[in-house]
Amino acid sequence: MKKIKCNSYTVEAGNLELSSFPKLLEETYKDVRKVIVVDENTHDFCLEYLLTAFPTLEDAEVILLPTGEENKVMEVCFQVLEALSDYGIVRSDLIITLGGGVVSDMGGFIASIYKRGLPCIHIPTSLLGMVDASLGGKTGIDLGNFKNQIGTFHDPVAVFVDQRFLATLPEEEWRSGFAEVLKHALIDDKKEWDRLIASKQDELFSEENVTKLLERSIAIKAKVVNEDPTEKGIRKSLNFGHTIGHAIEGYYLDLNPISHGNCVALGIIAESYLSNQKGTLETEELNEIVQVMMALYPCPEDLLTGVGIMIELMKNDKKNDQHGVRTCFLDKIGQCSWNHLISENDIKAALNYLYQAYYKN
Ligand code: GLY
Repeated sequence: MKKIKCNSYTVEAGNLELSSFPKLLEETYKDVRKVIVVDENTHDFCLEYLLTAFPTLEDAEVILLPTGEENKVMEVCFQVLEALSDYGIVRSDLIITLGGGVVSDMGGFIASIYKRGLPCIHIPTSLLGMVDASLGGKTGIDLGNFKNQIGTFHDPVAVFVDQRFLATLPEEEWRSGFAEVLKHALIDDKKEWDRLIASKQDELFSEENVTKLLERSIAIKAKVVNEDPTEKGIRKSLNFGHTIGHAIEGYYLDLNPISHGNCVALGIIAESYLSNQKGTLETEELNEIVQVMMALYPCPEDLLTGVGIMIELMKNDKKNDQHGVRTCFLDKIGQCSWNHLISENDIKAALNYLYQAYYKN
């Protein structure tokens, strides 16, 4: 069992049955009621395993969230809060989230506000959940097309990463999570980036490779969160690719939703371009990043029709201050800096570069 300290709690990576999860259920949370939060996918593919492997969960209440980012909204939270109240859940009871990023973002948020905060355990079941969303205590709910505009910092009691849950993950979800894996390497670990991009496509998600990339990616995220849990400084680097990526995601949310990771990958291309234009990232490294991202992630053909709206969405990005839109730049592969001010013209040029990279021929 690999144990990684992340702020006030421990992330355990390995077989869930061999982790401290059973002990938490049988000792620390023995006499409290448990609520398991799932979505439609984890309800069908993961819940039965959990209930069978851990008989103490037999009487747990199960809350089913509608699947998808478009449902990560306050209206759904209100329904869940009412259900918790109807079930008579009290402050000492335990919430267990079983799912991807939407489930841990929303389940964590609800755990943080219901009766001013309940203990919560995350069991991520997607690659994105395992390397990013379940780690670091951020919770988030979208507000219209603005991603994660409402949220809290609420550390879970523990996070358990068991890669066996990935067995049923669709290809699109693998790619989505892998964008965050690549981002972690880009901002912190050139050796890991080189290792990842040297992997053959068909071996990328082999069991052995996934164990390695999970350990490294979780370690990078945990290191950053440990240094800056509430995002005053270095934690902003985890948002590399997300200023433009979130705006692309927000724009398409109610048109033709694109996975978070795909949008982050496109944001990484655009923000790497800006890093290069502003004189931090070498052109050779920019070209390498663009090539890697383009081989894995598509770009919508009508991207440029959304530029005006995307700029408006970026004006509300959480990293901004009174001076305008602030973003991260790569200094080089493996090193990131943050708080860089960018203009509307910079954003237009970056989106144009992104579009040209895919469609110039
Ligand atoms: N996903 C970015 C962060 O946790 O800070």
